[in-house]
Amino acid sequence: MSAADAAERRERLVELYREVADCTRCPLHETRTKAVFGAGNADADLIFVGEAPGAEEDRQGLPFVGRAGQLLNELLVEIGLSREQVFIANVLKSRPPGNRDPLPLEIQACEPYLWKQVRLIEPRVVCTLGNFATKLLTGSPTGISRVRGEAQVHELGGRTVFLLPLFHPAAALRTPAVKQQLREDFATIPALLERPLPEPLPSRQELEAEEAGEATAAEPAPRDDQLGFFG
Ligand code: URA
Repeated sequence: MSAADAAERRERLVELYREVADCTRCPLHETRTKAVFGAGNADADLIFVGEAPGAEEDRQGLPFVGRAGQLLNELLVEIGLSREQVFIANVLKSRPPGNRDPLPLEIQACEPYLWKQVRLIEPRVVCTLGNFATKLLTGSPTGISRVRGEAQVHELGGRTVFLLPLFHPAAALRTPAVKQQLREDFATIPALLERPLPEPLPSRQELEAEEAGEATAAEPAPRDDQLGFFG
């Protein structure tokens, strides 16, 4: 990427930041101290996505600045990365009062900002931190304990990426075994960053066209007397 492209990307991210800072799309803007846009490198190959800002993040306007954030920093250093090389964001940009779970209306209002961040930054790998971000971004109800540490391929913000579900660092702080698993899963990130980007996933129309094509090429059309089987 040329310096001009990189500068334009940063500029567009700053524009989005201003939009988020002034956002009033959901009632959380009334209770937040500061919106937490996310922070890091606009050219990052790696994005981390947590759930929502906590009390300290709300005060500072920065993501993962509490104890969970410190652990995230340590784990990054262990794999030879720093916060300045990655981008760290949350699904919600405003703190839910008392750290309650995000409500559907809040997610609906806020998730377009995350998709725009992914579209602008163009990462290769997106690591979801914890159950909430994992379920939302994978589009699956399967919990983090069953999917953690195994890279998946997903289309996010119009971009095909590796998605690596990870335990939330706050859960790792509570349970040493979880911390160990999180550390092991972090160790897989450097190799994942080197893997060739997956081919874009076929669109629904392409899949339907493919299925229709296969049905005519490989299978004879059902005879009239078989049609009853299909309701
Ligand atoms: N937990 C999160 O999910 N995000 C933060 O920014 C901090 C704690």
